[in-house]
Amino acid sequence: MINAKTRLYGLIGKPVEHSLSPVIHNALFKRYNINAVYLAFDVDDLESAVKGVKALGISGLNVTMPYKEQILEFLDELSEEARAIGSVNTVVNREGKLIGYNTDGIGALKALKRFTEVEGKRVLLLGAGGAGKAIAYTLSRLARVVVLNRTERKAKELEKFGVKGEKLSKENLKRYLSWADIVINATSLGMNEDRSPIPKEFLRENLVVFDIVYSPLETNLLREAREVGCLTIDGLWMLIYQGAESFRLWTGVKPDVEFMRREALKGERRSI
Ligand code: ATR
Repeated sequence: MINAKTRLYGLIGKPVEHSLSPVIHNALFKRYNINAVYLAFDVDDLESAVKGVKALGISGLNVTMPYKEQILEFLDELSEEARAIGSVNTVVNREGKLIGYNTDGIGALKALKRFTEVEGKRVLLLGAGGAGKAIAYTLSRLARVVVLNRTERKAKELEKFGVKGEKLSKENLKRYLSWADIVINATSLGMNEDRSPIPKEFLRENLVVFDIVYSPLETNLLREAREVGCLTIDGLWMLIYQGAESFRLWTGVKPDVEFMRREALKGERRSI
């Protein structure tokens, strides 16, 4: 029941109307008997929105495109990861102080670990945008990572984390795919379109293929990887594990990820 003690959490971004996060987090609040609600806010003016969070005492936020980097300057404190990555996807309001965290890297790592060993593995990461940076930072601590990005400069910038960064070209794709144990698509290629960042002929059976794009759930890349016989991991796992980390930061509860996935899939069907 919503009453005077109900706490408010939310997602800020633009656009946010297709997000599955409200479905997932509201289901979790209900499941764990937490008196809170989660709403999606389509924000034009980020600075005013953050002031509003403080003024209204909103308890926590998820942050999505295009604000993950812009929000840093409006926050009071940053976690070590958020500062190193330069990107925030989770905000906790601790007694009026807004603290920024980044759960994208740990979310991707946990999604991977659910299906495969990661430590010491050779990882080819495609994309050096917001999500790519966070994944590069987290995985660089336990695996060997090569990042390929369309804009080479952004891949090179990630070399500060101890990864190798190069241009996303056909030659580099071919070369590093024959080296890699795991390939991760953190570009937006394949999102609501049937393109794939990897030509099918470059895929081989013993590769683990993780796509962080979750719409469609089976991207072209994942379908072709499945046809070749690869182990495939879809982007909904990434959404769920990063969301689980956000939920834990807000509430202290480590949520049931199987439940989150069921609720997200139900929510996805309802929105079609
Ligand atoms: P996110 O927060 O989802 O990571 P982003 O920061 O906008 O989103 O990053 C998008 C990523 O997809 C970037 O790595 C981008 O490459 P650039 O850095 O060169 O822009 C990549 N990307 C987007 N469209 C692409 C395309 N058509 N071909 C290759 N890479 C693409």
